Amino acid sequence: MVDTKVSLSGLTLDNPVIPASGTFGYGKEYAELYDINILGSLSFKGTTREARFGNPQPRIAECSQGMINSVGLQNPGLDAVKAVELPELARIYKKPVIANVSGFSIEEYVQCAKAMDDEPQVGIIEVNVSCPNVHDGGMAFGVLPESAAAVTKAVKKVTKKPVYIKLSPNVTDIVSIAKACEEAGADGLSLINTLLGMRIDIRRRAPVIANKMGGFSGPAIFPVAVRMVYQVAKAVRIPIIGMGGIQDARDVIEMMMAGASAVQVGAANLVNPYACKEIIEELPRVMEELKIEKLEDIIGIVE
Ligand SMILES: Cc1cc2nc3c(=O)[nH]c(=O)nc-3n(C[C@H](O)[C@H](O)[C@H](O)COP(=O)(O)O)c2cc1C
Repeated sequence: MVDTKVSLSGLTLDNPVIPASGTFGYGKEYAELYDINILGSLSFKGTTREARFGNPQPRIAECSQGMINSVGLQNPGLDAVKAVELPELARIYKKPVIANVSGFSIEEYVQCAKAMDDEPQVGIIEVNVSCPNVHDGGMAFGVLPESAAAVTKAVKKVTKKPVYIKLSPNVTDIVSIAKACEEAGADGLSLINTLLGMRIDIRRRAPVIANKMGGFSGPAIFPVAVRMVYQVAKAVRIPIIGMGGIQDARDVIEMMMAGASAVQVGAANLVNPYACKEIIEELPRVMEELKIEKLEDIIGIVE
């Protein structure tokens, strides 16, 4: 029997597979298809202070080996997430979850993080400083070490829960931003968010997406994600949740060898709603084939 357990800041996960924020809602739709309690954890849709209806349609562009989304942080807002979504999630999922929060000001990040601090099911607060979809938020905080550190510091002050900063790949030097977050007190890092992309409808001579640009994700970004996780893992001591284009158990192992302690699966859930289930079932078989007894032993094993 192989051991698929991993740990993140004191939380033990049965396996490292976590659906990525924004691709799994609050688990409801997936729970109708399979028992989602097999998941290592679950990162729910990004929460903002106010309800957001998202960006105008169309906001998805399919690409070969990936997709561009410009959903624009659509969510029911902090109060409704706490009053409705989290109690419902607690009924269908019995393990600690990851609360993904976003904001358009440091005060908003602080307010969202503080509100998640007293949620018993929240095991980790994941701070999205990188969403490329929103004109005047997210991105601005994640692109500079100073602003990423300022958000980290402010959020750390209002919660006792582990704080993971979710980094943007749309930067010149992700390592310097990762280090700034670690120095500012981050307990861990999640990476990568989507890469800023664009498609043009050549018949209409216009962008496919109403908002022109959006976040590119899916298998095409996997090598970029592995590279960034590898570089960051070599530079920091805090744990990393690796993501970007993961499709199967072999990708999970590759991401962990690059330095991730756990992984998130995003776009793959939208292509195949059973993606996480299939990865979790495949993982022990691939571990046996590769003679990996304990998954934690391979974290960052590549020199
Ligand atoms: C439709 C969609 C919505 C997303 N919404 C969020 C979000 O609310 N917060 C966040 O931090 N990341 C969000 N992301 C980014 C994913 O969590 C993930 O970082 C990214 O898609 C890379 O992983 P993947 O290639 O497996 O999709 C979203 C991605 C997609 C495709």
